[in-house]
Amino acid sequence: MKKTIEKGKTLLVDGPASVSVVSGKVDVFGATVKNSVKIVVREGKRLPFTALETANLGILLGENAGVEEVDGSTIPQSWAEAAETLKNVQKKPFTIMILGKSDSGKTSFCTYLINRLISENQKIAVLDGDLGQSDVGPPCTVAYAFATKSVTDLFTLRAENAFFVGFTSPSESPDKAIKGMTLMKQEILDKVADFVVVNSDGWVEGEEAVRYKSQLAEALNPDLFFCIPQSNELEPLLAALERFRKITVDSPVVIRQRSREKRRNLRELGYAKYLAGAKVKTWPLRMLTIETQNDTPAEQKHPEGSLLGLYDAQRKLLGIGVLHRVDPVRKALKVLTSVSIKPAIVAFGKVRLDENFKENVNA
Ligand SMILES: Nc1ncnc2c1ncn2[C@@H]1O[C@H](COP(=O)(O)OP(=O)(O)OP(=O)(O)O)[C@@H](O)[C@H]1O
Ligand SMILES: [Mg+2]
Repeated sequence: MKKTIEKGKTLLVDGPASVSVVSGKVDVFGATVKNSVKIVVREGKRLPFTALETANLGILLGENAGVEEVDGSTIPQSWAEAAETLKNVQKKPFTIMILGKSDSGKTSFCTYLINRLISENQKIAVLDGDLGQSDVGPPCTVAYAFATKSVTDLFTLRAENAFFVGFTSPSESPDKAIKGMTLMKQEILDKVADFVVVNSDGWVEGEEAVRYKSQLAEALNPDLFFCIPQSNELEPLLAALERFRKITVDSPVVIRQRSREKRRNLRELGYAKYLAGAKVKTWPLRMLTIETQNDTPAEQKHPEGSLLGLYDAQRKLLGIGVLHRVDPVRKALKVLTSVSIKPAIVAFGKVRLDENFKENVNA
C-alpha cells in the first residue's frame, strides 16, 4: 500500500506493519526519518508518522494491522515542554523517572524524550524497569542501554546489561525488582551519562503499589519525575512521593489500549527475540551456581519450562534460556537457549514457557 501524507498530518500505523519512507520526511516520536528507511511497527504497537514535509510512504500491513490519518501531531504539547525543561538542566548525570499506569504512554514518552535529548548531543542511558512490558532487555528482566542515535522503538536498543528478576510483575517480589533496578542504575553511574531515563511498570494503584514505587524512588533517587495520569489514579502515589520534584504531562488521546492477552503476546515476541535459534545445551551442574526464587518450595525448584537467566562470572546477563530438563545421571542441566558460551550462574524464574515459547499460564 502507498500513502501520501501532506505536511502537518499524521498517519497512525497499528502493527504488525512495516513502513518505508520513499520520499519526504516524517517525525516518529521526535526521530526524523527519511531516505527510504524502513521502520517496523510491532504487533500491538501504534506509531505516529507526522509529515515534516509531504511524504510518500510504502506500507506493508500484517494481520489485523491498520492505518488512520489524523490532522496535526499526536505528541502532546506538554511532552515538547518537558523536553525543553531538560535543556536547562545543569546537574549531570540527571536522573528522570516516568510514572503512569499501563497504556498511559510511558514508553512513547521515554522514546520522545530520548530523541529530543539526542538531538542536543546528550549521552543518554535508558533504564527499563517494566518487567512485563520490557522495551530494552528480555521480558522478566530490568535492563539498561545507551541510546546513541534516534530510535522509533526502544526494542531496537542493545541492552548493555540486565538483571533477571524472573517474573512479570514486581508485586511478586518487590524487593527483588528494587534490587535489580538499584544494581543496574549503579552500573550506569559507573559509566558516563548526561541523562538516565528510568521507565517504570504500570503498577501504580493500591497500597502495595504505592509502597513499591516509593521504595523504588528512595533507592534510585531521581532528580525529576514525569507523571502521566489518565484521571486521578496517581494521586495517592504522588502524595507518597511528596519530597520529589514532579512534572505532570498529558497522556496522548490516540493511545490504543491493549488487553491482557495482547500484553502477553507482546511479551512472547520478546521471549522469541531472545530465544531465536535456540538449541539444547548441556552443562554440568558442578560448574554452575544455581539461584532459585526465594519463595519457591524445594520440590518445585526445577520444573521443566522454567525461564532461566544466564549470567557470566562477572554477572553480565548473557541471555535467557528455558529449562529442558535436569539430567540426574549425568548431573547436568539441559537448557534450550541461543546463548553460546557456558554461563557461570543460572537463575531460575517463576515464569514457565511451553515449547513454542508461550507462557504456560496453568503452570
Ligand atoms: N503520541 C502518540 N501518538 C500515537 N500513538 C501513541 C502515542 N503515544 C503512545 N502511543 C501508542 O499507544 C500505545 C501505548 O503507549 P505506550 O506503549 O507508550 O504506553 P505504556 O504506558 O508504555 O504502556 P505499557 O504499560 O504497556 O508499557 C502504544 O502502541 C504507543 O505506540
Ligand atoms: Mg511501556
